[in-house]
Amino acid sequence: QANSGIEVNGNFYLKDEYTNVTPKILSYLNRNLHIQQNHPLCLVRDRIVNYFYKSYKNSRGNPIFSVYDNISPVVSVQQNFDSLLIEPSHPSRTKSDCYYINNNYLLRGHTTAHQSELIQAGLDSFLVIGDVYRRDEIDSTHFPVFHQIDAVRLHTRDQLFKNNDELQLFELGDNVEGGKQTCHTLEAVKLLEHQLKQCLVGLAQSLFGKDVEYRWVETQFPFTCPSWELELKYKDDWLELLGCGIMKQPILTEAGVVDQIGWAFGLGLERVAMKLYQIPDIRLFWSQDSGFLNQFKTATADTNVVYKTVSQFPQCKNDISFWLAENGDFNSNDFYDLVRTVGGDIVEQVNLVDSFVHPKSKQTSHCYRITYRHMEKTLTQEEVNLVHKKIEDEAAEKLGVKIR
Ligand code: PHE
Repeated sequence: QANSGIEVNGNFYLKDEYTNVTPKILSYLNRNLHIQQNHPLCLVRDRIVNYFYKSYKNSRGNPIFSVYDNISPVVSVQQNFDSLLIEPSHPSRTKSDCYYINNNYLLRGHTTAHQSELIQAGLDSFLVIGDVYRRDEIDSTHFPVFHQIDAVRLHTRDQLFKNNDELQLFELGDNVEGGKQTCHTLEAVKLLEHQLKQCLVGLAQSLFGKDVEYRWVETQFPFTCPSWELELKYKDDWLELLGCGIMKQPILTEAGVVDQIGWAFGLGLERVAMKLYQIPDIRLFWSQDSGFLNQFKTATADTNVVYKTVSQFPQCKNDISFWLAENGDFNSNDFYDLVRTVGGDIVEQVNLVDSFVHPKSKQTSHCYRITYRHMEKTLTQEEVNLVHKKIEDEAAEKLGVKIR
């Protein structure tokens, strides 16, 4: 059967009812923007890596952290979720949030997916950098592919407490109380929290300047406890920079580590680059246009580039209205993917502008406004109409909706 398999990065996978990767999404694999010289995402990545190289050195003056930036984004469900204690019922696992290759494999939703395997391989201080894939809405700050950097730092008792024999990492307990894992001593958690926060405030300052205003917000991740988000004040708004926390001990035990505790964090590169260089639209990172790329051509990691919009081409807005299929399994993310596949990168935004249920027929109607804008030229209404019509036709055919 010609349609029963799918090839990704040279490997063959059987399709099943989970398969929802699209050829459009697969076309982003191996672009590797985060290692493309002078690409703004690579500049940000270099800045962060340099900060870790400079801040953490061994007695010989060599960097302690090692960097992994070419691990394939195809991961197993075990890597992306199970190894991180993400419950089977957790919403981040659903088909409407992830790009599944089949029920066993997916495009990673975070670089944290590699945490357990690298610890198992014997590493105790590392950075993982790569492309991650999430089904999401469409606007100037969301794109189904973006880039993350994750870090892990483990400590033995002697490293953390400088050989002070009085202090211990562990005590008896296997649950959570007072916002802390009961298997950890209070002194170990507090010292680790202090070191983690000091490291990340230093990172924020090295990116956005010594005077950057920040605040810590308590949060929850399935794989850390306690957990925090670091927010930065940026033009009167609080911007979430990263998530972090003390690693859940069972992750380490499962990976064969019984005498260490550690911290971890994860951060999105696009968000940092957009603020740092004042890049207004997330699609620009994928531009191959010299008008964009040349502005970063001579930059080093420390150069302060301010992106200048070459010219702002006009938007074109077209609405699409349809009755949802009667079987009720319509999901907006399916529609967004279809719009991306058919419309490609000229789609700037898709917004649900109206939704109602017909009083008699009980059918649900959705109206979406699709905003089209090309990054490098003016689109004509005729060009847009052709694409828009194709989206209507495919939505009717593939999603079973009835165009109104
Ligand atoms: N994986 C988390 C995310 O994608 C970030 C994170 C990494 C948080 C490591 C805590 C520890 O949002």
